[in-house]
Amino acid sequence: MSPKLLPLINTRHGSRSAKTCEYRCANQCDAPTPNTSGNEEFQTLAQRAIARRAMLTGSAGAMVLAGFGAQAAAAAGTAHGHHPRPERNVGRASFTSVAPNRKDDVVNAEGFTHDVIIRWGDPVTKRAPRFDVHHQTPEAQAQQFGYNNDYVGIIPLDGRRALLSVNHEYTDPELMFPTGTDELLKKKIEMAAHGLAVVAIEKGRAKGSWKASDPRRSRYNRRITASTPLRVDGPAAGHELLRTKADPKGTTILGTFANCSGGTTPWGTTLHGEENFHGYFDASGALDPKQADAYKRYGITGQGKGWKDVDERFDLTKTPNEANRFGWIVELDPLDPSAPPVKHTMLGRVKHEGCNVTIARDGRVVAYTGDDEKGEYIYKFVSRDRYQRSASPAARRHNKTLLSAGTLYVAKFTGDGDADGVHDGTGTWIPLTSEKKSHVPGMSVAEVLVHTRLAADKVGPTRMDRPEDIEPNPVNGKIYCALTNNSDRGKKFTTDEANPLASSMTRKKLGEPLTATSGNRNGYILEVTEGRGRSCGKGYETSTDFTWDLMLICGDPAAQETYFAGFPKEHVSPISCPDNVAFDAVGNLWISTDGNQLGSNDGLFRVPTNGPERGRVQQFLTVPFGAETCGPLVSPDQLSVFTAVQHPGETDDATFEKPTSTWPHTDAFPRPSVIVSYAK
Ligand code: FEO
Ligand code: CA
Ligand code: CA
Repeated sequence: MSPKLLPLINTRHGSRSAKTCEYRCANQCDAPTPNTSGNEEFQTLAQRAIARRAMLTGSAGAMVLAGFGAQAAAAAGTAHGHHPRPERNVGRASFTSVAPNRKDDVVNAEGFTHDVIIRWGDPVTKRAPRFDVHHQTPEAQAQQFGYNNDYVGIIPLDGRRALLSVNHEYTDPELMFPTGTDELLKKKIEMAAHGLAVVAIEKGRAKGSWKASDPRRSRYNRRITASTPLRVDGPAAGHELLRTKADPKGTTILGTFANCSGGTTPWGTTLHGEENFHGYFDASGALDPKQADAYKRYGITGQGKGWKDVDERFDLTKTPNEANRFGWIVELDPLDPSAPPVKHTMLGRVKHEGCNVTIARDGRVVAYTGDDEKGEYIYKFVSRDRYQRSASPAARRHNKTLLSAGTLYVAKFTGDGDADGVHDGTGTWIPLTSEKKSHVPGMSVAEVLVHTRLAADKVGPTRMDRPEDIEPNPVNGKIYCALTNNSDRGKKFTTDEANPLASSMTRKKLGEPLTATSGNRNGYILEVTEGRGRSCGKGYETSTDFTWDLMLICGDPAAQETYFAGFPKEHVSPISCPDNVAFDAVGNLWISTDGNQLGSNDGLFRVPTNGPERGRVQQFLTVPFGAETCGPLVSPDQLSVFTAVQHPGETDDATFEKPTSTWPHTDAFPRPSVIVSYAK
């Protein structure tokens, strides 16, 4: 959208053109085969596989079938006075939005409460010792819940139990360790505090509540750290760019870290993005000149975290290829504690925020992933092979190979995305490589996959404003991407149709007036409909073209540039810096934020994507001072919302002895934790 169109947006609030994609699809499209989201499909499989156990009340499949009918029924129930008890379904419940605030606490919408499920340091494995912040060891941390929880996936076990699969993105040493702690010891502990965790949970006494199960009774609980062996898979496995002295075959990598967001597959595994991996590599001397372009493109400078003092593979002067072994999508099977996690080279190497998979109408699977940095690209992968719906072990083994071969694409946005609810922006998925044939001149398949950013640069995709989580809506089939912000839009990056703002309104403190700030500071929600013309919408994820619009232009509703899918601005919550997204069974979009530019703590928001309330952004909770909101996840029975509270108290001046947050208020220092919210 050109800046001159911005005022037009504001004249359209409250009205919506009939020329929506739903309209076009209803009148022109072939009837699509319903697709399925990861969680929904896995519920169905789990239902078959665990026949003697009751599933979580009301599986996601059943819930999705209810679809809009549920929302309509809820509304009708109210209209006819048949609403004797409060609605516990988090997708249908009505609540008063949480007001912006700076409290050092989780603030739930009225009528809801929350429990802390697990905190940094709590035991995960059977052998885990009790957490003692003054006597931390790497061995203990490798058995305990890691730091800075981010992605939260859920794998149901039976009617009352499930597994949480959680990312531990990074560490805040100044908040973790008392002053004077040995520097080398700190690094070892931090390495163990990164990675992933699998945690058995069970329903609590209150409806909608969950708690961590006794780890001594779980055969699934598990930690993956920066030192755990992972298997390399896909076309670049074994390529010379991935070989090191310690791994001459280039097929086994120690560790995963910088795990940001993720996804849950239809076959019941979890995916974990390796995001800001570039900051973990040191250089004791010169960097390999042969890799200079690639290092530069990924921001690898040789200024890391000093991990080379623990393990010299983090010294790029000695191990130049080690950096090529991070930046992948990792697949973990929480149901198989003995299976090493897998790094999928077929999905390319970028600063992966996360990865979300859906099944297209022809049975192939499609995975979406964003490269979270200013001016980076959006990618999708379409599998070569088809998903097998059987619940048999053989089918599951087959499905676990689906991310190993297919075609990787990058997105180019064109046309008129003028944020008016009309999908008249157009776009193309440009192929980069299949497992056999590179589409990028001068680069082999493996080179495209290892140096994906360099490959994508050659085919002219659109530089986006920090594409973070991107996920298909299981109800309407559209794809939603959080574009967090880009302070350099309008300076280093010119504005374009999909990234229109070179200035936006922000405030430093609550109560202060808004001021104009350069760049896109509050972010967008991008809405994509796969396919075009007669073949568009749900089930057409394998298409190479799409239509799109900006569903939300975030910010304070008082700011002229903001847009909430046409919903009246006086009835929406301010929202800034969307990061992770999730869906409930009614198709509402749940958005967690990171880096609020309006003076408030970050939070979690619910916004309908269809119907008369489309665009009604409501704040469901806020997280404590200094924290980022991660997860989020709506439980399959729709009674609970899981949120990862990341880096509480992470402010410039904070230290272990002088924290700016002590949440969750069990200690004198902050502890990143996963919480669950539910109706009181
Ligand atoms: Fe780790 Fe893009 O947030
Ligand atoms: Ca994130
Ligand atoms: Ca973030």
